[in-house]
Amino acid sequence: MSAKKNHSISVYLNQEYPSIVKSEGIYLYDDTGKRYVDASSGPILCSLGYGNEEIADVLKEQTLKASYVFRMDFTTPELEECCARICEKTNGVMDRVFLVSGGSEATEIAIKLARSYQIDSGNPSKFKVISRWLSYHGITMGSLALSGFPYRRANYVPYIPSTYHIAPAYCYRCWFNQTPADCDLECAQALENEIMMQGPETVAAFIAEPFSGMSLCAAAPRRDYFKKIRKICDKFGVLLILDEVMTGFGRTGKYFAYEHFETPPDVIALGKGIAGGYFPLGAAAVTAKVFDTIAKGSGVFAAGHTWSGNPVGAAVANKTMDLIEESNLVQRCVEMGDYLAEKLEGLRSHPIVGDIRGDGLMRGVEFVKNKKTKEPLDPAIKFWVLLHQEAQKKGLVLETSGGCERGQAGDMMMLGPAFIVRKKEIDDIIDLLDDVLLGVEKKIGF
Ligand SMILES: Cc1ncc(COP(=O)(O)O)c(C=O)c1O
Repeated sequence: MSAKKNHSISVYLNQEYPSIVKSEGIYLYDDTGKRYVDASSGPILCSLGYGNEEIADVLKEQTLKASYVFRMDFTTPELEECCARICEKTNGVMDRVFLVSGGSEATEIAIKLARSYQIDSGNPSKFKVISRWLSYHGITMGSLALSGFPYRRANYVPYIPSTYHIAPAYCYRCWFNQTPADCDLECAQALENEIMMQGPETVAAFIAEPFSGMSLCAAAPRRDYFKKIRKICDKFGVLLILDEVMTGFGRTGKYFAYEHFETPPDVIALGKGIAGGYFPLGAAAVTAKVFDTIAKGSGVFAAGHTWSGNPVGAAVANKTMDLIEESNLVQRCVEMGDYLAEKLEGLRSHPIVGDIRGDGLMRGVEFVKNKKTKEPLDPAIKFWVLLHQEAQKKGLVLETSGGCERGQAGDMMMLGPAFIVRKKEIDDIIDLLDDVLLGVEKKIGF
């Protein structure tokens, strides 16, 4: 076997990837000794930083105690504690939780719970799920069908069922040519229009990310958007599902991002930070109304996966919640997030920095050719790919993405360091980023 050649399939198939042999805090080290500052916690995932010994202990303890239990036969104290605590974190808005192995499974289970609710409330014709363009809900066929992220959907459209998308809530490039200061939330009204066009008797649910993930890098709607969405959903008996896979567990400076909008949903999809980045875990949580309707109706929820409700995942989630509480990490996301935002403002001097957005430790930047007209960079340049490569070369790990200009152009990046990040580390990230941007600007002739 060749020592150098990688045998794993990754994203870019014609390049070799550095091999990470050590990780600590917000740093990764490869087998040549090169250090990388991880400004994005992997894909906005490793919220507790790398190398947490307390989590390592929990992994070992729970593995020895009960490594696997099949949900058809048993439950465990760890699973029950985990589900109860997630409900507590919503102040009782949610009542029951189904644990899965990641975000894509979580959004699919959320849909299946919504569909079961509609059937058991005597509305079996309600099956359609409306979502938004420029959204991301996962890569499995069902969650990809909901996603309105052209770059990730394109090759698989023939396999995914017909879906129903409305305009995104994307103030920087509003699809209705409005500004948040004086719009009528046309992007929310679009939901009512779509429900009417589909036939309200066919629509089961609407799903959206409170703050967009990689498809719009931390874009958020005006704070009253979800109130209007909630009213429309209630008017037509449509469940509101919020995809908090990226935002949940403190990332935006609230335990759940829906708190920013003071609008509790009927179903929440969770993932990523739920287990601090130490176990492949996700969850779908539902209100008592949704659960009780299914329980008193068919009394069965047969959807699930072999690994659903895994006790090791539950134990890691419990420890993650302990650590978030003990170290006041949600408040830390507010404080470090404000500091990061302040520092990012300094990058506006770059000719290509068009928009800076987000909250807490979830901050997006959109790059443009012309700040005044918001003309995007030529997509042929593949700026977001160049930026990612240049950053990694200089030891900075960033998540970058493209397609925000109606799927055809547009370049973005997301910063989302671990909640334990320190001010000095944020300073270093910004200095490195400044240098990386100068390098890429030079390369593309700015
Ligand atoms: C908002 C959102 N939903 C769902 C997913 C899918 O999660 P996973 O990659 O764990 O399947 C992601 C992943 O990035 C996400 O950001």
